[in-house]
Amino acid sequence: MTTADPKRHYWLPFTPNREFRAHPQNFSRAEGIHYWSEAGHEILDASSGLFCTPLGHGRREIADAVHAQLLQLDFAGAFIRGHDRAFEAAERIARLTPAGLDHIFFGNSGSEAVETAIKMAFAYHRARGEGQRTLLVSRELAYHGVNLGGVGLSGIRANRTHFGATPGAVVHHMRHTGIPTNRFATGQPEAGSDLAEDLERLCGTYGGENIAAVFVEPVAGSIGCLAPPVGYLERIREICTAHGILLVFDEVITGLGRLGHPFAAQAFGVTPDVITMAKALTNGMQPMSAVAVQSEIYQTLVEESESPLVEFFHGYTYSGHPAACAAAVATLDIYQEEKSFELAAKLSKTFGEGISAMSNIQGVTGARSCGLFGAVDVEPVDGQPGRAGYETQKKLFDLGLHLKATGDSLLIAPAFTFTPSDLETLFERLRAGLEG
Ligand SMILES: Cc1ncc(COP(=O)(O)O)c(C=O)c1O
Repeated sequence: MTTADPKRHYWLPFTPNREFRAHPQNFSRAEGIHYWSEAGHEILDASSGLFCTPLGHGRREIADAVHAQLLQLDFAGAFIRGHDRAFEAAERIARLTPAGLDHIFFGNSGSEAVETAIKMAFAYHRARGEGQRTLLVSRELAYHGVNLGGVGLSGIRANRTHFGATPGAVVHHMRHTGIPTNRFATGQPEAGSDLAEDLERLCGTYGGENIAAVFVEPVAGSIGCLAPPVGYLERIREICTAHGILLVFDEVITGLGRLGHPFAAQAFGVTPDVITMAKALTNGMQPMSAVAVQSEIYQTLVEESESPLVEFFHGYTYSGHPAACAAAVATLDIYQEEKSFELAAKLSKTFGEGISAMSNIQGVTGARSCGLFGAVDVEPVDGQPGRAGYETQKKLFDLGLHLKATGDSLLIAPAFTFTPSDLETLFERLRAGLEG
């Protein structure tokens, strides 16, 4: 009798499953800035999990808050019932968002936050008598999650073409700002702000009055850290305002301190109408996302709604889950007490120098950073995009460094609790993996 592998049932997302089964790389525990592999090896976490754990792993304060919350009130369906922790979490987030973005809607993932923002944009314009605004704009190389609205916004080929013609809203894409001169940029590159004029061109072609919203990752993440050129976001804001288009910053990666400020909006001094956030909101200890909207949007959709009952037909069973809200409040407490965003800002300079120093390694074709987020591009294998990135991150795991590769870019996003000496270790291991 043959015994089938009991591990065969688990289908890993965004993973080459067949290869993974042959050479699995699993974690068994985590603490601080380290993971431990199944074999018991200590692995430095260079990605904050996946941008999720900027306070380090296993924070007891957050775990305790979740535990206590589950024993007090474990579940409260968000449709027609509220609870203290949800009010508190929303209020605490609104303290951090730019002035005016003070109404908060909860979801469970970045993808859900994006879908929520899309639906809010359409509903908002309809409520204002501008229901003709049915078009969306995003950018090439953009990543806005995996649900169909977000896939429509996506500008990464594999995320779209795998599913045939992408259904959903009609989306037009601006060009990205990852032009050759920006491949090795530290911080905001000087070149490329003129690419914002693509939006004006789309307004000319399709009518700005027909566009509902523009979705932008302030720093494009999943394609490998593309910071906005100087003046770029300002110009996008200007064009949106001129045409009455909502500007959505998808801050699933940049939100909550990654750029040394609560949000990229503050880091770059540009205020959008909507911000999506997730990952760092609970330090990765509970799934949670949020959408923050300008009070004008809430006012239109809720306070001035013509609907006699439900004003916005949208939500998730687990929206504002008590355990997630407790985790968010405890996380935001720590950010405040430990001045975490300031710590991130302080570390950014050394971090940027470390990323930049990778440029001279043979086979490195790009090295960029912004705040505590960086990317190093490795030379692609002919005909197999993503192969070089995948193999490099596998090798790095064996050298004691965890990070995520996206295509052929290695994403590096240490916890805000790293010391300069932890950063040194990170870059030593990274260099060893890239040179080896
Ligand atoms: C900018 C952006 N939006 C949306 C998402 C989707 O988030 P999730 O994987 O939590 O659905 C991500 C994930 O990395 C992201 O980077």
